[in-house]
Amino acid sequence: MGGLRTSFWRAARSDTIALGHYRARTLLCHGRRKGATALQERLASCLIRMSRNGMPPLEVEASGEDPPPNGWQTDPDLHQLPEFQELNRYILAASNGVLNFIEVDYEEMQITGCWANISPKGGDHPAHQHPNNFLSGVYYVSVPKGSGIITFHDPRSQAHIISPKVKRVNFYNASTIDVEVREGLMCLFPGWLIHSVPRNPSEERRISVSFNINFAHFTERVSPPLWRANMRSRI
Ligand SMILES: [Fe+2]
Repeated sequence: MGGLRTSFWRAARSDTIALGHYRARTLLCHGRRKGATALQERLASCLIRMSRNGMPPLEVEASGEDPPPNGWQTDPDLHQLPEFQELNRYILAASNGVLNFIEVDYEEMQITGCWANISPKGGDHPAHQHPNNFLSGVYYVSVPKGSGIITFHDPRSQAHIISPKVKRVNFYNASTIDVEVREGLMCLFPGWLIHSVPRNPSEERRISVSFNINFAHFTERVSPPLWRANMRSRI
């Protein structure tokens, strides 16, 4: 659905992120920090250089073959590159803001994957989620006119078994929410939240950088039981 905007967002840190809730306690965050334009321009030029260098799978276009309909995705290791260290700091600062807001007791977060999406005209991203990560997000590098939408799907699939005709689409009867994005903006959401991106109607490419975040040292620090026993297991 279109037109439903983010009136339920509220500012947590005015220059970095805004926070809101998608229906029942599903947190969505988006925001744009100071200096975002310079970072976004540096990343755009880096990714364009990368595509010119013929790094797979971007070389498909250079070969003169038809571009893949949904565009290109780089390897998911961009966070290892020197050019992405500033973005890494931004991502971790934003995720810290989210975790502090929801009062999670944690020690350290880690970026587990980071990749660029380059969508030509007509390119879209079907509904999907990012398993095995606590948070996921997108940083928008290049958003041509008309292509700045990410759609979040109601995670309660059963809630729409009965879907009567509505007088007007609103927060309570919608099955999806469109969030309007722009260049330099970062959007964070739970990794399990299904989302999709409509087709790019522009002749220009849409470029975004997606990433996943999880608790560092997950097995050692998060997985162990939190409860205390009342009997020793020593023999
Ligand atoms: Fe995604």
